[in-house]
Amino acid sequence: MNFWLTGCARVLKPPGSDGYSCRVDEVRLDPMTVAEFDDRLPSLMHAYVAEQIRAGNWGSADADELAQLEQRRLLPRGFATPGMHWYVARTAANQVVGYLWLATEPSDPRAGAAWLYAIEVESDWRGRGVGHRLLDAAEVEAQRLGAASLALNVFGDNRIARRLYESSGYEVTSLQMRKPLT
Ligand SMILES: CC(C)(COP(=O)(O)OP(=O)(O)OC[C@H]1O[C@@H](n2cnc3c(N)ncnc32)[C@H](O)[C@@H]1OP(=O)(O)O)[C@@H](O)C(=O)NCCC(=O)NCCS
Repeated sequence: MNFWLTGCARVLKPPGSDGYSCRVDEVRLDPMTVAEFDDRLPSLMHAYVAEQIRAGNWGSADADELAQLEQRRLLPRGFATPGMHWYVARTAANQVVGYLWLATEPSDPRAGAAWLYAIEVESDWRGRGVGHRLLDAAEVEAQRLGAASLALNVFGDNRIARRLYESSGYEVTSLQMRKPLT
């Protein structure tokens, strides 16, 4: 699988700037290699751990241990775990701009939704429409894998990701709430 997405109609103003500088219209999605996976996984897990701590789900003391347990649960066979799909996104000039991690039901992807386990844009490329291009690509790829819908989890305080999903037509299906008592 290797395709280009072009012709984004959105006009984005990069945060903190008055005008428009550079919008990314073309993103190519390539399957990740094992070497890229080995290189990328620690950072994806690190971001996941940081969000769990920030959301108050995990304490910072046991976060590393919990992350390792979670990684073993999700990826018992690492890169080769059935139903896990990894991608690198590149511009027309071959610059790496982001990453996707999709999960489908290994035995029958048509049985349910595909899950977007991770979407990440390289920090220098954020705010230029790459997130939208990546999400479009994730939907195309999930359909190609046989899924009828794409689901995801997002932490409440991740405003930019929530904006991305909401403006792309994603609706809340469940909601966790918490009030600190001390
Ligand atoms: C979330 C993420 C993928 C978004 O990618 P991005 O390329 O910056 O997003 P886009 O430029 O496509 O913008 C998406 C939307 O957020 C808005 N946005 C982007 N940066 C913003 C900022 N700093 N402040 C406010 N709004 C912002 C855009 O205007 C756009 O809004 P629209 O949908 O109404 O057009 C990226 O920020 C990222 O990699 N974050 C770290 C990893 C992460 O949190 N992943 C999501 C886990 S659920």
